[in-house]
Amino acid sequence: MTLRRSILISALSLTAVLAALTATPAATASPTHDPGQSSGAVAVPDDSLRALASRVGLRIGTAVNTDVLATNATYQQITADQFSSVTPENVMKWQVVEPTQGTYDWSAADKLVKFAEAHGQLVRGHTLVWHSQLPTWLTAGTYTSTELRDLLRKHITDEVSHFKGNIWQWDVVNEAFLDDGTMRPTIWLDALGSSYIADAFRWAHQADPKALLFYNDYNIEGLGPKSDAVYGLVKDLRAQGVPIDGVGAQGHLDTKYGFPNQMRQNLQRFADLGLKVALTEVDVRTTVPDTTTPEKLAQNADYSQMLEACLLVRACISYTVWGFGDAFSWVPGVFAGEGSADIYDENLQPKASYFALQQTLMLASGAPHRDGTGAGRR
Ligand code: G3I
Repeated sequence: MTLRRSILISALSLTAVLAALTATPAATASPTHDPGQSSGAVAVPDDSLRALASRVGLRIGTAVNTDVLATNATYQQITADQFSSVTPENVMKWQVVEPTQGTYDWSAADKLVKFAEAHGQLVRGHTLVWHSQLPTWLTAGTYTSTELRDLLRKHITDEVSHFKGNIWQWDVVNEAFLDDGTMRPTIWLDALGSSYIADAFRWAHQADPKALLFYNDYNIEGLGPKSDAVYGLVKDLRAQGVPIDGVGAQGHLDTKYGFPNQMRQNLQRFADLGLKVALTEVDVRTTVPDTTTPEKLAQNADYSQMLEACLLVRACISYTVWGFGDAFSWVPGVFAGEGSADIYDENLQPKASYFALQQTLMLASGAPHRDGTGAGRR
């Protein structure tokens, strides 16, 4: 029989329980509302990522492939044990929830919400306004600007209303900028101009006033033209009184490139606007097979340094990996010759990057104290 040390965690008192168990001073960043996902206490291993992160009030999340969750017991166990928040990788996207105009299919997403509730997890809703994974009836249709605006408002209102009370953070607008900081030409920008962004946040807020509403994008982890553009946007939105609560930096890195420029400082400047921040889709791809030591080390360092940047910014409330098993990663399908981006391998065994995150969380939540200052023989 395997003996597992475990700790009881409840959705609502996660931070409080662990704060009481440890004498570690904690920077708390608990959710600002009760998203209605309370549950009985759940037992998770006390060295799990979620238990360690809860000591500093941070949620550790994962994107979930709901097909795998439905059939793979090991995947279910890891999702429940290691993570305190879940994001549907695909099943809340417009293409999935309204494949035929006017006919909704919430079934897969509803199951994930139930799983989260049963395991004391919060849900990040992903994503309401995007240029990708739109239903064919929408992309192939011919609509006037007024009709498109009405369709977008209906989509946001219906989806946010359906999940009202069950979503902690919504990614309201996703990937509206190009890497050079100009706005991405999309069906929405082309028809409605940039005002669609403020409208989307207002409509989402009307449908669920308690959900935290995020702008989410990639390549905005560090200082640079794209994060400057997003900074300008969210600063304007705040100034206009638009109900935006946070900015999500996705965190899709590649060992080919350096670590994002001054990531902590970048997250902090968003926080200084009064916003929450979150790492929403972390993974670190590399060339495969990943036999090269420097690349493996870079991967571990990238995972840890992103977590450190988040830990150092009090407004950073969650760190979410974009799936946790290499067998189910989106990366090989998009980047030829690259992969191995996740913290568990093809057989759902934890990799060095998992242990790097675990160690960083242990340090953050209470490194052992030494006696004196460098005690010992002089
Ligand atoms: O569901 C269909 C299935 O019916 C069909 O048989 C199959 C054939 O290829 O395709 C299935 O759809 C796929 C879907 O994932 C669900 O598995 C799509 O082809 C595939 O393109 C889609 O990829 C997703 C991608 O977004 C779409 O752009 C990835 O799983 C998902 O990880 C990825 O996630 C995005 C975030 O939402 C936003 N940020 C970037 C991130 C990575 O691209």
